[in-house]
Amino acid sequence: MDQPIGVIDSGVGGLTVARELMRQLPKEQLIYLGDTVRCPYGSRPENEVIQYTLEMVDFLMEKKIKLLVIACNTATAYTLDLLREKLLIPVIGVIQPGARSAIKVTKTNTIAVIGTEGTINNKAYPTALKHIAPDLTIYDQACPKFVPLVESGPFSKEVVEEIVRESLQPLQGHQDLDTLILGCTHYPIIADEIQKVIGRDVQIISSGEETAREVSAILAYQQLSYEEDRIPDHKFYTTGSPILFEQIANHWMDHPVQHVEQVTIEQTQNDK
Ligand code: DGL
Repeated sequence: MDQPIGVIDSGVGGLTVARELMRQLPKEQLIYLGDTVRCPYGSRPENEVIQYTLEMVDFLMEKKIKLLVIACNTATAYTLDLLREKLLIPVIGVIQPGARSAIKVTKTNTIAVIGTEGTINNKAYPTALKHIAPDLTIYDQACPKFVPLVESGPFSKEVVEEIVRESLQPLQGHQDLDTLILGCTHYPIIADEIQKVIGRDVQIISSGEETAREVSAILAYQQLSYEEDRIPDHKFYTTGSPILFEQIANHWMDHPVQHVEQVTIEQTQNDK
């Protein structure tokens, strides 16, 4: 079906999921929207995150998307059920895929999750993990400094490492811990520093790969896939600076990201 897949995040973090979607679904066109101007979402109250997410979704629905990927853990935690009820298209979040991936790799049944304050306080990961495997030991830790760091653009590795070290301090010393879920889509961008600090024995999980697998399965099952050969023309929108967005994106993505468009997300009927 020749309609795009919509991808939303509070900023550039969802690109870590978009990259996997492009890799696993090379014929599908993506329309990406990052609400950079209102990022971070993780420290905002739930009602605000819900309102902003609904505004982003309205923007993408106007573009006639055939499937929505909420490539933001915070927005997934607060809006997945709501959006599944509200929209007539499939809606995929990033929390269940992340939880599934972690359960596949842990040998000690001891998993830690790091994420935004919103995602951690909401207990979305422990709930998803325990739903599948009730006997897990789970540690969680909010890392509110990571998202502003990633969004600020090219950073020095030393500065990142220092902030990561300080933020992950509470997780050090859990001997059985063998798996760490990056429960925020911004975090894979600083995965090297996280790996260095948490140690090579701990397997790091980001949800992009498993999320893309789920999207692929749903497209096939619902006969929504685009079948012809083509190089799709992906579109990128941000509510913030397109220049900074392009800079960060081109650092991370396998394909060049160009012509990023700045948009204003209109206040919609959701607020009325
Ligand atoms: N990338 C988002 C997430 O996965 C949100 C980060 C933020 O805006 O705080 O949670």
